[in-house]
Amino acid sequence: MPAFKTPFIPMSEITPRTVFLDRRRFMAGAGALGLAAIGSPVLAALDAKKSSYTVADTLTPRKDATTYNNFYEFGTGKGDPAAYSGDFKPLPWKIRIDGLVAKPMEFDVEELIAGMPLEERVYRFRCVEAWSMVLPWTGFMLSDLLRKVEPLGSAKFVAFRSAARPEEMPGVNYPILEWPYREGLRLDEAMHPLAIMAVGIYGDRLPNQNGAPIRLVVPWKYGFKSIKSIETITFTDSQPETSWNMAAANEYGFYSNVNPERDHPRWSQASERVLGTGGGFFGGVERRDTEKFNGYGAEVASLYAGMDLIENY
Ligand code: MTE
Repeated sequence: MPAFKTPFIPMSEITPRTVFLDRRRFMAGAGALGLAAIGSPVLAALDAKKSSYTVADTLTPRKDATTYNNFYEFGTGKGDPAAYSGDFKPLPWKIRIDGLVAKPMEFDVEELIAGMPLEERVYRFRCVEAWSMVLPWTGFMLSDLLRKVEPLGSAKFVAFRSAARPEEMPGVNYPILEWPYREGLRLDEAMHPLAIMAVGIYGDRLPNQNGAPIRLVVPWKYGFKSIKSIETITFTDSQPETSWNMAAANEYGFYSNVNPERDHPRWSQASERVLGTGGGFFGGVERRDTEKFNGYGAEVASLYAGMDLIENY
């Protein structure tokens, strides 16, 4: 089997030093394990109706969106998720929804895909590392799924957790982040029509590296909120812990709304590199100005009326 090799990237530029050091340990350890690089299995195409939620921006080439990824369960290099997610088994898959709900439920993802009204939506996507892309996602509204379990009046937040399978995901054997990867939304954010559960990109099922079989997409927030390969969703009455906030609270807040007026402590958020315009591991050389709420302010700004979004980053 070929060794688990990952190109060296000066990631100290984009992640906290503790994470950077853990990454180096991770790369050394994974190399010793000799993990194989195998491609994702090809899954059937999806049948979805085009949605009016779309932007006119040029689509990011599929190749860039599927080979330049962040999915630390498979390594920290941008090419690692595509190279090292071949052993990951996204099917069969169950997703459990519990906590402060009248009817906790477990869903089979294949049944969900068959039973939910699938739409294709073209969204802008902005990573906190200041690169961006524009993707055609196939999925359904998160609110349509959450309503099925009948949330209680006491529920105020929704907590998400990814799978963490040491056998299939080499990265979770190393303390890069708190595993399983976890994220959260306020309940009104989760119920917003722009928040979707995606099961496909470019008309096909999600490749493993993009979060198969089911992930969140919240286009007005930095990309790390859009948690991949989700296993559980739990309704809570207090703000859930999130993996990146646990790693560096001063850098990654709970809200993480795209905001060019609030710089990351170590870099500007005023503009972004457009993925697919060259630049290799730096994710695009062309730049565009970053828009507040990633351009979705007309739809979502009212969720934050009266809030200081510099304080609540
Ligand atoms: N979800 C999990 N489980 N693990 C991760 O490392 N990375 C996040 C997010 N979801 C991540 C995750 C980050 S930082 C980004 S920018 C997006 O996934 C990247 O999604 P993409 O690789 O499909 O572009």
